[in-house]
Amino acid sequence: MCGIVGYIGARDASEIILEGLRRLEYRGYDSAGLAVIQDGSVEIRRDAGKLSRLASLLESDPVYGHVGIGHTRWATHGEPSARNAHPHISATGNVVIVHNGIVENFLSLRDELASEGIEFRSDTDTEVIVQFVDRYLESGHDLIEATRLTLDHLEGAHGIVLLSTREPDKIVAARLGNAGGVVIGKGQDEMFIASDIPAILEHTRDMIFLEPSQMAVVTQNDFQVFTLEGEPISAEIHTVAWDPVSAEKGEYKHFMLKEIFEQVRSVTNTIGGRVEFDNGSNIILPQLNLAPDFAQRIKRLIITACGTAAHAGMVGKILIEHIARIPVEVDIASEFRYRDPLVDEDTVVLAISQSGETADTLGAMAEAKAKGATLWSIVNAIGSQAMRMADGSIGMQAGPEIGVASTKAYTAPLIDLYMLAVLLADQRGVIDEKRKRELVHALRLIPDLIGKCLDRVEQVERIAWHFKDISHCLYLGRGINMPTAYEGALKLKEISYIHAEAYPAGEMKHGPIALIDEDMPVVVIVPKDPWYEKMLSQIEQTKARGGIVVAVATDGDEILPNIADHILWVPETPWLLSPVTTIIPLQLLAYYIAVLRGADVDQPRNLAKSVTVE
Ligand code: AGP
Repeated sequence: MCGIVGYIGARDASEIILEGLRRLEYRGYDSAGLAVIQDGSVEIRRDAGKLSRLASLLESDPVYGHVGIGHTRWATHGEPSARNAHPHISATGNVVIVHNGIVENFLSLRDELASEGIEFRSDTDTEVIVQFVDRYLESGHDLIEATRLTLDHLEGAHGIVLLSTREPDKIVAARLGNAGGVVIGKGQDEMFIASDIPAILEHTRDMIFLEPSQMAVVTQNDFQVFTLEGEPISAEIHTVAWDPVSAEKGEYKHFMLKEIFEQVRSVTNTIGGRVEFDNGSNIILPQLNLAPDFAQRIKRLIITACGTAAHAGMVGKILIEHIARIPVEVDIASEFRYRDPLVDEDTVVLAISQSGETADTLGAMAEAKAKGATLWSIVNAIGSQAMRMADGSIGMQAGPEIGVASTKAYTAPLIDLYMLAVLLADQRGVIDEKRKRELVHALRLIPDLIGKCLDRVEQVERIAWHFKDISHCLYLGRGINMPTAYEGALKLKEISYIHAEAYPAGEMKHGPIALIDEDMPVVVIVPKDPWYEKMLSQIEQTKARGGIVVAVATDGDEILPNIADHILWVPETPWLLSPVTTIIPLQLLAYYIAVLRGADVDQPRNLAKSVTVE
């Protein structure tokens, strides 16, 4: 979704903003622009298309100033065009704005302003905001007050950053609701603003996160956070541990490939510091704030998330039910929040989100909180809203994930959920020391097993050649690897635009089997887990109908080579952790098929990294 970058300091704002926007390209966008205050007036450069277009505009018609704001837009109101690209300027030319979110009541606000004679120069909802701010400035309010009064008119959720020629020594930012995160970066005699951490990470690691219903004024050396009523708030400065290098592509052709290969390290980091392999084999998750008496009281756990995070949650259901014996439901966040769900004080609602800013997930969390549930989150982006809203949280430790298709932010929560299951089981007394030790020690194997999957990258690439021209694909799995089928299919459809569907394998005979012929390859996930034998019979049914079978199989399997057409081998993995290894060849398969089709792997069409609108 839309990316925002702002700068105030001694350096050239346009360069810093353009570079910051480049680091947000992964969010998905269709136009880009920036504005700086140059010699007392606002200079804007913007256009439809990629940032290279903005860069050439700046080359042919440069701007220079020490304060500025920039934006990459993902169109909601009005087509992607120069006219609709942000920043948007007010009728007097005194105020300029960038915005992330949707002004839900923009039609009535636009009518109100139009009736006062204001002419609109774009089709966007954003323009009403800047015209309102200017109207309040013109009637004698200062910039902060004018912004504050404007926010009162807006419905919906927003991240807003604006500048004015009237007060060129400051940037004003606001956050309303759960869309549009706003992070302020504190540098040495310079300050940064962004929608996401990677945009400004090369300049500072000291970050302040705006909560919903907060606004901030940022000057070259200082910042102040306020409530929407104008009350000052003392905001905490978080030090973000991510290093800027991990947000670079380095030797890899795409971020997605780099992130697939980073899984040895990200999973090692996820385990690191949380597991005592000696001294009683304990799991330590201090930020979860889990007291043993509460662990014993939990009657039900609901995992809520979207997309890949929801698939991780589906694995989590099996882990927690099997290991900790607590009933778990998985609820798609966009459904949960509008269903009047049954939740009480003995229910834990666990949200999973790599960005921690997904509007649907945050909405589900708010609904659960309002109903009295205890809220936990598993989040990758430190300091994000999903982390701050929760009563307890587990950081994924995956590091920045830039590719729109989530990979390392899928395997990290699998490990977190496994550790959570063991911790809950221990605190509820449902496993003995021997079992706990076995479960904990299995974690030790995982980084090495992921490495073994990655060593087979060339085998996967060879198989990808066979499938680069397909139009459809079916993914089947059972039990703990049923979510692997869902996640494998999601990866393929997201980045290659091939229609891919996943089913619990046992459901195949209830309908999808009608689809099977030689033009419908079937990817089956068949490691040596408790569902292995059942999967074999499903493969036989597929083969009997002429289907081409690609099997994810455990090294040494002697049956599958006789029935499958292609094998993606994975090393033997304890079955409760098998989804961590079975997904790796499927991530790679999707990647190579997409590359062979010439697709834009890191920024697939129509998709955004952080889905901050409903
Ligand atoms: C993953 O490949 C997708 N791009 C998408 O499904 C994503 O997992 C979903 O939007 C949830 O995002 P979150 O983890 O940031 O909440």
